[in-house]
Amino acid sequence: MTVNTLFDRADALLRRTLGRSTDGLAFAPGRVNLIGEHTDYNGGFVLPCAIQLGTGVAWAARDDDLVRVVRSDPQEDVAEFRLSDRLGAGPGTGRTGGPPWWAYVQGMMLAMRQAHGLSLGGLDIALAGDLPMGAGLSSSASLCVAVGQACAASAAFEMPRTHLALAAQRAENDFVGCRCGNMDQMASTHGQAGKALLIDCRALSVQPISMPPGLAILVVHSGVERGLVDSAYNERRASCDRAAALLGLGSLRDATTDLLADPRLDALALQRARHVVTENERVLAAAQALQTGDLRTLRECMAASHRSMRDDFAITVSAVDRLADLMHTAIGAEGGARMTGGGFGGCVVGLVPEDRLNALDQAVAAGYRDPHGSPPRRWRLRASTGVSLG
Ligand code: GLA
Repeated sequence: MTVNTLFDRADALLRRTLGRSTDGLAFAPGRVNLIGEHTDYNGGFVLPCAIQLGTGVAWAARDDDLVRVVRSDPQEDVAEFRLSDRLGAGPGTGRTGGPPWWAYVQGMMLAMRQAHGLSLGGLDIALAGDLPMGAGLSSSASLCVAVGQACAASAAFEMPRTHLALAAQRAENDFVGCRCGNMDQMASTHGQAGKALLIDCRALSVQPISMPPGLAILVVHSGVERGLVDSAYNERRASCDRAAALLGLGSLRDATTDLLADPRLDALALQRARHVVTENERVLAAAQALQTGDLRTLRECMAASHRSMRDDFAITVSAVDRLADLMHTAIGAEGGARMTGGGFGGCVVGLVPEDRLNALDQAVAAGYRDPHGSPPRRWRLRASTGVSLG
């Protein structure tokens, strides 16, 4: 779907279900991470790009403090609250029933008010999206950023992209209760067409890296839905904090290869820390390789990243390992494959020369079956622009 199609859908939905005509439109993309997993909340480096799939929002201002939100996929759901309701006493307070996306919308509106003292008025909002949920392509960050951009526009406020990203992260951290880092939100706000983004998650700096001409992105879903994601994710984050504390560091960003020999690290802390230290190195090497079109080095970085996620960080499952292996082999000498996103299921990303894309697609369709015995879902993605107004 194009962004304009999402806008048309959101606009029609707002009219049909809430009886309003649109005052403004906003779009925020999802992202695919090329390399750099679980490094963001350790203050490290990541290399994602925004993609052409995302969330479109149509909004209309109200003259009271009611917020009504409608979303049509998978089924049509309407939810509402008043801005004067007591919300956000702490993590999880957003889970007040309603459809699964509801806590994100409430959390984002609250984060926008807290971040900038925005005097938000009531809004009618319609959402239309084409991102698969729970696939590791950041449907939640896309939703939060799109709603945040709509809120800012409704208050005639031009919000800096990084501020918008951090507000969206806070919505998930403080309201939904997932202690995610800032990669997804930074990618969704800062995306550029044809570029990957080398993000320093501590400095909050973004360096666009041109994708080599003729390099395609294929994302394949293992079909393993990520179960218990939030708790396992939060547990990994806690184990990184613990490893940093054992080393007397504020964050694993400051750990080095030498420090990994420190006897204060027990076996588990060593594994977790080693993943973060080596993954940060691989992100920088992969960014350099992407910039120079060195697809062989990129291949090595992606393969080593996958092994590290499997053996040290323990966030892959056997179906994902099988799929990554199959893709790695089918891609050939130039380009590579690795699991992308938080882990425990989800997708594998392949970077492949355009002229081998169809062969890769066919190899995956023929050689992999999801847990239901079907060929896997696949997306051909493009590095795309970040959040925008319609
Ligand atoms: C999820 C989180 C991100 C990041 C990745 C793993 O997508 O939302 O902040 O930690 O997992 O790299």
